[in-house]
Amino acid sequence: MEFKSKIKTIEWVDNYSKMVDQTVIPYEYKFVNITTGEQMFHAIKDMIVRGAPAIGIAGAHGVVLYAQEALNNGMTNVEEFKKWVIEKAEYMKTSRPTAVNLMWAVEKQIEVIKNSHSDVKGIIEELKQNGIKLENEDIEINKKIGDYGAEVVPKGATILTHCNAGALATVGYGTALGVVRSAYAKDNSIQVFADETRPRQQGARITTFELAMDGIPVTLITDGMCSYFMSKGMIDMVVVGADRIAANGDTANKIGTYTVAIAAKYHNIPFYIAAPLSTIDTSIKTGKEIPIEERSREEVTHINGKRICAEGINIINPGFDVTPHELIAGIITEKGILRPDYTKSIAEAFQK
Ligand code: MRU
Repeated sequence: MEFKSKIKTIEWVDNYSKMVDQTVIPYEYKFVNITTGEQMFHAIKDMIVRGAPAIGIAGAHGVVLYAQEALNNGMTNVEEFKKWVIEKAEYMKTSRPTAVNLMWAVEKQIEVIKNSHSDVKGIIEELKQNGIKLENEDIEINKKIGDYGAEVVPKGATILTHCNAGALATVGYGTALGVVRSAYAKDNSIQVFADETRPRQQGARITTFELAMDGIPVTLITDGMCSYFMSKGMIDMVVVGADRIAANGDTANKIGTYTVAIAAKYHNIPFYIAAPLSTIDTSIKTGKEIPIEERSREEVTHINGKRICAEGINIINPGFDVTPHELIAGIITEKGILRPDYTKSIAEAFQK
């Protein structure tokens, strides 16, 4: 039985990008239409759309929006058009630095531009079609990740996850929550423990929202509680997503993931990453080379617009951390579950 998830996070419609506004979940579930490249840059930066695969698709749509603007502004010379849109595409890549899917998907659009022999209108059509193809592939890939991952979920398992690597972090279905969805389709006695995920609370706001929407049992815990529940024997496995995986398997994901991985190792609980190959950056050898996004102080000092700490204190707010590959039991991809030695299994996955 296939699990039918109701959520489609982002899609190309006619000549704009339609996406779920993730800044207002769980209070509202509404869509916004992004009609210009600059709007898309800010939708990514301000996290209206978030999650590595979803921002990849958003970046790809953003390139189409810039291309449309170029034509609307009368740019019909193909060489001039190509140069301008590629410059804007490079700018789009800088909207968020850690998730490599953004660079990956925008680069796919740049390839379309470079390789096209069409006129400006033709190139825009090719970019649209490529964006839609990437969208459709994302869902297919997530279903494969889900099905591979479901094979290692024990019967009746309680699965801990951190942040949101769900349908709302992808086009649909999800990576870590894709594993949950596929496992739940086979065994509806499984359940999820979701870390709150401070400072932006993607676990509390988004993971619980989408699992509740799909009727999958979920228990919300705060970030500091995970070791406690592990020590009580209440967690059977951990599955999280990834923003960038280095060639040796070191994995950047939402801040706090590393803490969960250490706790899982101590308690002998398997800790899995679920991610498409587009999240693997083989150009970097280790996690030390992954750029970590530093976000605003207000995300830490305030909750729902209200200050929660003394004024005038120091604040540091890295958005991601890197889990060393030694702590990872397996990387669940669309090509199967990669196991250590990751340098070898990752390289082999790209040959398949
Ligand atoms: O800052 P966010 O919300 O974009 O961070 C999201 C995560 O860290 C996810 O776990 C990751 O992007 C994987 S999404 C399938």
